[in-house]
Amino acid sequence: MALLELNDIHKNYLNGNVKVNALKGVSLSIEDGSFVSIMGPSGSGKSTLLNILGCLDTPSRGSYRINDQNVEKLNDAALSDLRNKFIGFVFQQFHLISGLNALENVELPLIYQGVTGKARKEKAQAALEAVGLGDRLYHRQSQLSGGEQQRVAIARAFVKNPKLILADEPTGALDSKASENIMSIFKNLNEEKKITIIQVTHEKSIAECGKIIYHLLDGEINYIEEVQAH
Ligand SMILES: Nc1ncnc2c1ncn2[C@@H]1O[C@H](COP(=O)(O)OP(=O)(O)OP(=O)(O)O)[C@@H](O)[C@H]1O
Ligand SMILES: [Mg+2]
Repeated sequence: MALLELNDIHKNYLNGNVKVNALKGVSLSIEDGSFVSIMGPSGSGKSTLLNILGCLDTPSRGSYRINDQNVEKLNDAALSDLRNKFIGFVFQQFHLISGLNALENVELPLIYQGVTGKARKEKAQAALEAVGLGDRLYHRQSQLSGGEQQRVAIARAFVKNPKLILADEPTGALDSKASENIMSIFKNLNEEKKITIIQVTHEKSIAECGKIIYHLLDGEINYIEEVQAH
């Protein structure tokens, strides 16, 4: 069954008097358990598409179904509930809260879900251990390398056991060794936990960690590439 289904999605922005057509009729269907990469030149609409998929932004036209629900029919409370329970986000610049240590950052989504006390700490710790940071629990952002910060961000994204992780250039600020590490964590989440992953990237080698690549050009899907098994 399709987990996500976009049908003829358009997104227009008005910049002063100039209308920008960031997405011009994107239709796609993503199966539960997929690992999808989105590539394309700067300005081709990748982040716009990801933000719509994550219900962080609304399309100007077209329909979007997620987990068999029509997104445009959901009110704000239902939408934020969907985002909290269903979707984990990972960004290029990590977006950790600098005043909190690694453990507290990963506990945050559990707080929103009402998980308390020892159970919350244990879950957060297990997630950090799963990304190899069991010995960095009490480090703050300034005491972690870029790759470590991104691993904390990923632990924060999957600690709530989402069905979907959306990542916008997750390795864009990392060197190749740290990038490989992030990709092996994504592969593991996809294969072991069956979490659907959708990532935006500029790098072919990163995109090929997915099983399918959507190539965007000028707000449209230019072509779809199946990655050969490797
Ligand atoms: N809030 C906004 N207001 C006006 N125009 C916008 C806004 N967000 C994006 N755009 C425009 O929409 C187009 C697509 O932007 P988007 O951020 O999706 O590109 P992208 O493919 O993610 O690029 P990059 O690789 O540089 O991150 C661009 O032309 C951009 O200038
Ligand atoms: Mg972008």
